Amino acid sequence: MTATDPILQLEDLTLRYGSLTAVDSVTLDVERGARHALIGPNGAGKSSLFSVIAGRIRATHGTIRLDGHDITRVGEARRSRLGLVRTFQHSSLFLGMSVLDNVRVAVERSTGSPIRPWPSPRRDRRLRERAMELLETTGLADRHAALCGALSHGERRQAEVAMVLACDPSLILFDEPTAGMSAAETNLFAGLVESLPRSMSVVVVEHDLDVVFRLAERVSVLASGALIADGDPETVRNDDAVQEAYLGRSHGTDLFGVAS
Ligand SMILES: Nc1ncnc2c1ncn2[C@@H]1O[C@H](COP(=O)(O)OP(=O)(O)OP(=O)(O)O)[C@@H](O)[C@H]1O
Ligand SMILES: [Mg+2]
Repeated sequence: MTATDPILQLEDLTLRYGSLTAVDSVTLDVERGARHALIGPNGAGKSSLFSVIAGRIRATHGTIRLDGHDITRVGEARRSRLGLVRTFQHSSLFLGMSVLDNVRVAVERSTGSPIRPWPSPRRDRRLRERAMELLETTGLADRHAALCGALSHGERRQAEVAMVLACDPSLILFDEPTAGMSAAETNLFAGLVESLPRSMSVVVVEHDLDVVFRLAERVSVLASGALIADGDPETVRNDDAVQEAYLGRSHGTDLFGVAS
């Protein structure tokens, strides 16, 4: 499936760790404003692909374009300032700092201005207000004074989303955002993604297929590093290669766990 107005274009993207090919010649577009899911079995290369797109790891081969510009050799921090941000599969908060301070640091970093050694009360107030706004958006305002270490798993994820939004992203890559969440927290997260403006394109790696089929308008499937299916959720759900990669035929159930 090609995008008519792509925000992200991957061409022949490959990542090798020594002899292991973690991402194998992936060519894929992400439409501007997309709600796009990337799924695949454990070890399929989803997080590796995110790391290459976000600039954490240099691709072995291939091209990445953001908004039509070749960013293949652009560093991670600059990509983030260009609006391309990702969350990690494992939490990346400063646990000994308050929720508000974590988000405030993210806001400060996203301004790209150098850290000032002298205090500026007006600037501090602005940063704090913006951080509080983001915590309200993500439903965590009443926990702003808590240490991140004291948050529940779902609350930590909410704080991470606030930190992502601090970057004023145009493209967000969520890596397994609902892993370890309760059903209620998962529901809250899905609602949060649904409430994001379309000026933010979203790609989500997700194992919870209920979340995938609730949020995604397009689904791409990786297996052993390669893209094996890509299209609207209904088509992908019925795709034989996808069924095979996930379950093997012997299980006699489809992607929704419905007996066939
Ligand atoms: N830093 C690394 N060095 C070497 N091999 C790695 C590294 N990171 C990942 N791999 C390997 O690359 C392959 C893809 O891993 P990756 O974590 O990208 O998969 P994934 O689809 O995100 O899996 P999961 O669903 O379990 O998160 C796996 O075989 C993994 O063992
Ligand atoms: Mg992963």
